[in-house]
Amino acid sequence: AKTLDEAEAAIAMMFEGGFGAAGAEVVIEEFLSGREISFFALCDGETAVPLATAQDHKRVFDHDEGPNTGGMGAYSPTPFVTPEVHDQIMSRIILPSVAGMKKRGMPFRGILYAGVMLTELGPKLFEYNVRFGDPECQCILPRITSDLVDLIEALIQGKLEDFNLQLSNDPTVCVVMAADGYPGKVTTGAVINGLDAHGQVQGAEGVQVFHGGTTALKDGRIAVSGGRVLGVTATAATLPLAVNRAYVACEKITFNGAHYRKDIAARALKKK
Ligand code: GLY
Repeated sequence: AKTLDEAEAAIAMMFEGGFGAAGAEVVIEEFLSGREISFFALCDGETAVPLATAQDHKRVFDHDEGPNTGGMGAYSPTPFVTPEVHDQIMSRIILPSVAGMKKRGMPFRGILYAGVMLTELGPKLFEYNVRFGDPECQCILPRITSDLVDLIEALIQGKLEDFNLQLSNDPTVCVVMAADGYPGKVTTGAVINGLDAHGQVQGAEGVQVFHGGTTALKDGRIAVSGGRVLGVTATAATLPLAVNRAYVACEKITFNGAHYRKDIAARALKKK
C-alpha cells in the first residue's frame, strides 16, 4: 500500500473475508522500496555458505507491468548484489538467522532463500523460503558444477565445511514461456512446436528447456497443461550472449497463445 487509505482498504478487505480464513489475522510491516533480489544460501544446521544470487521478474508484462505471476524469468548472478552488499546480506541477515535457528533448537538444514530488497538504507529481508526459487532454480542448478547429490548429503550430515562447492561464473538466463491467459484462467491443450523428442530445442547451444506446464500426448507430441509452460534457459560466457541464446531458442518454440517477457535481465544489461 502506498498510502494510508490504501492500507486501510486492504485491511478492511482482509477482515471482510477477501482472503478467507487466512485474512483473519494481519501483520503490518514497513513498506520497502528498492530493487528486489533473491539470495540463496546453503545451510547444514551449523553454518551457512552463500550459493548464488538471482533476480526474478514477477510481473507478466515487460517493464514490470501487469499482474503478478509466479515468475516470468530470472537470471543469475545479478550485478546488483555488489561484493559489499553480498557481505552485508551474509553478515546481517543469513548468518544471524542460521545462528538464531540453532540457538532455538531448530537448526536448519537445506536451501535458505532470502527475498531481499536493496533499499537506500542497505539490504532488507522481506521473506524467507526454505527451497529454491522458481524460476531462479532453473538459472542456479546449471551453474552448480559439483555433484548435487553429494552437496545435499553434506547439508543433511552437517558437513558443509568439508564440501568443495564448485560454481560456474558463467551467467544463466531463464525466460518463462507462458500459456494463453496466464496468470489468469489458462487455456490448456495447445500443441507445442519446435521441441524434439526430448523436449529440447535442437542445435541451440548452451540451452536447456525445463518443462513446467506440459504434458506428453499419445502421438509423442507435447502440449500445454499449465500456466508457466517452459523455462527456456541459456548459459554463456557473458550475460548478453546468454540472453541472446535464450531468446533465439524461444523464437523457435511456438504454441497458440504463447507469451513471454522480452526484457528478462534487461536492467542488468543496462547496468553493465
Ligand atoms: N521466484 C519466486 C519464488 O520462487 O517464490
